[in-house]
Formats: sequence, structure tokens, C-alpha cells
Amino acid sequence: MESLNFVKGYGKVNPAEDNPNSPPNHYRRRRRRIIAIFLAVFLTVVIASLITALIHESATESEESEPSQLASNSAESLKTVCSVTRYPDSCFASISPLNSPPSNNPFRFFNLSLHASLLEVSSLKSQLTEQKGDPAMKDCGELFDDAASELGRSAELICVGPGEKVFTEMRISDLQTWVSAAMTDLDTCLEGLAEMGSTAVSEFKLKVQKSQEYMSNTLAILNNIQSLFQKFGLTLP
Ligand SMILES: *[C@@H]1O[C@H](CO)[C@@H](O)[C@H](O)[C@H]1NC(C)=O
Repeated sequence: MESLNFVKGYGKVNPAEDNPNSPPNHYRRRRRRIIAIFLAVFLTVVIASLITALIHESATESEESEPSQLASNSAESLKTVCSVTRYPDSCFASISPLNSPPSNNPFRFFNLSLHASLLEVSSLKSQLTEQKGDPAMKDCGELFDDAASELGRSAELICVGPGEKVFTEMRISDLQTWVSAAMTDLDTCLEGLAEMGSTAVSEFKLKVQKSQEYMSNTLAILNNIQSLFQKFGLTLP
């Protein structure tokens, strides 16, 4: 039918047309309608698949931030916890080597951050430079001892008996006090060292600052512990 019409109409010249070989009007209308229908169907299919893809993608995205997904990947979990700190890179670098066997629990990360701080400040004592005789250095040695004992007490405080709650308001407050006190001890040491100018002292200052960063990270995790547990879909121990 289509081709018959075409053949019949072929050669009929429409004077309004520039091209004498153009198919007749009624055929072109029909063809346009077919093209329009085809386009409509095609676009519907394309749009439908785009919407499906978008829905799928957003579903995948929301899955990624779901607690179960977060908890299944230790490195991702640690990144999430470290993201609340002021020094996320040093947070990650200090905790991840201690995280063995791999865990993804914010309490464990807090504990490891505390232990990393303790290890770091304890190693400072043995690294006191050859200028040990200097009064500022001597003071630093004592301040490191104080800081280590404050962090040690903090580490003991979170070793609770079975069924006992770790993060009571009282314990959180004590932990905040002790970790802050340890940071202040290192501040005092740095103030004393400020007047000493050798290269060895400058390097030593950097080590003291590194310890301070670890403490700052520990404090930040502690200050955000409730919201971190919520994010992981876990209840505060
Ligand atoms: C904290 O971590 C240290 C070092 O891994 C471990 O010895 C200690 O038992 C942990 N404390 C708690 C309360 O899990």
C-alpha cells in the first residue's frame, strides 16, 4: 500500500517544492508520523533506562553509607573515624598498623589512637637529644612522664568489667581531662624548647608535635564518639 502510493504519486511535481524528486505530501506526512512515533518510543525507552540507572546508582550510593557496608571494610571505617580529627592522615597512619586483626569498631579505633599516643610519648623520653643536660630538656623528660601516666590512666579507665558501660558521662569527662592534660604537658615542653635553637632540637620539636597530633586525634574521636557509633549503627559500649 505504502509503496503503491509512492509509485502512483511518483513524478507528481509539486510546484512549491524545490526538489522535484521529493515524495508526495501525504506520504511525507505519514512518514513523519512514523518517525514521530518511533522517536517517541525511542525517547521513552532512553528516558526510562536513564531513570532506572539513576535510581540504581542512588540506591548503590545509599548502600555504601549504610552501617553494614561501613562496618564490612576496616580501612573505610577507620577513614570515617579519622575524618572527625584535625589530622586525619596521621590518625590513619598511627592506628592502621596497630589494627591487627583488622577491626572496624569505633571503640577499638579510639583505644588504638590512645595507645598510639602513649607509645609515641613514651618513645620521646628515649629520644631526648644529647643536650639532655639542658634544663629545658630535663623539664621535657618529666613532662613526658606525666603525659605518659595520664594516657596510661586513660587506657586503664576504658578496660571495664563485663556488662559495665565504658562511655559513661563521668568516664568521658575524665578521659577528656587526662588527654587534654597530656597535650598541655607537651605544650609546656615545647615552650621550654623554643629558646633552644639547634637543628637537633628542631627535629626533636617535630617529634613532640607528632605526639601532640596523636593526642589531638584521640581527643577528637572521644568528643565525637556518640555520633560515630550512630553512624556505624552501633550502640555506645
Ligand atoms: C586497647 O588496645 C590495647 C593494645 O592493642 C590492648 O592491649 C587493650 O586490651 C585494649 N583495651 C581495650 C579496653 O580493648
